[in-house]
Amino acid sequence: MTSLTPSKITVNGERLWQSLMDLAEIGAYHDERTGLRGVNRLALTDADAAGRRQVIAWMEQAGLAVRIDQMGNIYGRREGTDPTAAPVLTGSHIDSVATAGAFDGCLGVLGGIEVIRILNERGITTRRPIEVGIFTEEEGVRFGTAMLGSAVAAGRLTVEYAHALTDRDGRTLGGELARTGFDGPVEVRLVAPHAYVECHIEQGPVLAEHGVEIGVVTGVQGISWQEITIHGRAAHAGTTPTHLRADAGLAAAQIIVHLRSLVDSGDYGDLRATVGHLIVHPDLTNIVPARAEMTVDLRNPDDAQMARAEEALAAFLHDLEGSQPGLSRTTRRMARTAYVPFDDGVQKVIAQAADDHDLAHVSLLSGAGHDAQEIAALCPSAMIFVRGEYDGISHNPREYSTPEACTHGIDVLATTLLRLANQG
Ligand code: GLV
Ligand code: MN
Ligand code: MN
Repeated sequence: MTSLTPSKITVNGERLWQSLMDLAEIGAYHDERTGLRGVNRLALTDADAAGRRQVIAWMEQAGLAVRIDQMGNIYGRREGTDPTAAPVLTGSHIDSVATAGAFDGCLGVLGGIEVIRILNERGITTRRPIEVGIFTEEEGVRFGTAMLGSAVAAGRLTVEYAHALTDRDGRTLGGELARTGFDGPVEVRLVAPHAYVECHIEQGPVLAEHGVEIGVVTGVQGISWQEITIHGRAAHAGTTPTHLRADAGLAAAQIIVHLRSLVDSGDYGDLRATVGHLIVHPDLTNIVPARAEMTVDLRNPDDAQMARAEEALAAFLHDLEGSQPGLSRTTRRMARTAYVPFDDGVQKVIAQAADDHDLAHVSLLSGAGHDAQEIAALCPSAMIFVRGEYDGISHNPREYSTPEACTHGIDVLATTLLRLANQG
């Protein structure tokens, strides 16, 4: 077969946009707060399963050979001309947070499929196979560990650990894989691809601030997630003197304020700290909370500073136990990843592709976690960021990237994949 090798490729932006909008119908809900349509496709729910089936159908229509592994990770493969060559992998995730938009993760997956469609239409063959991956539970909001499918594929976590994780209703990930029919037969550990490239919305304001279309991602900052449970004592709100209380709600509030003071001190580098989940029990107006459950999300581009921030939090929690008689706490590590630098060579291919498409670009570090940081343990990896509107708001129905921005990002992905897939 003769292989046409154009120097760059542009994709069908209208078709890409239609796929994004069609997928956003699956798990769509009316968001009361914003008045907008949002997406709720938590990993391995019925909505996620329906989304997966739709995307598999698109993969098969594009001629990809689909396989599903023991973590429910899905791969669609387009063969190259050299059967012995390692594939170039692209992809992302289609699971979402409960209040999502249409783009987070989906752009990378549907963009990958759009690249395949264009290669097919134009009769372009590549030396290496190209694979499009969909990784399970990237968000980590259902089973508590982010980038889960890719972390197991890359060997950082075991399949047994992942299958045993439970959601808030006690359902295991392994059970939900079986229930939804995504407990695939394929060995989960990935054989090292030649390279991995992921296109994703930026989820922040940097590209817009620089007035550029494309971000070449240099790496991902460290992420530390833990769950803290404060055990106090339930008591009557009107009759219990303050000095006799073990108020778990008060302790939770103190933790939140302390985290902010760590950030504001400037002593922990570029630390970010968030308590995004907090519930008190029994959650009633006139009862001192007996228990508070909360999560702490710390981010830091510097691993040493992250470790210092975690130590400072641990010391504060220790002291907090003594601050009210009868107060105690337990902590559980949910997820922990170090700063991951991306490969210089892949970043150069992305930057050159952006130049060749006449798209201005800047290099930047990712504030959010991504599957690319896990696959980076296996092969040279990097990411392409696409600009978002409204300061890049994400994990929210207001999340929006224009059709042009999405098309530009996937044009850069297409040309990058073409060049990597023809490398020796
Ligand atoms: C993934 O979306 C993250 O929390 O960074
Ligand atoms: Mn994402
Ligand atoms: Mn996300």
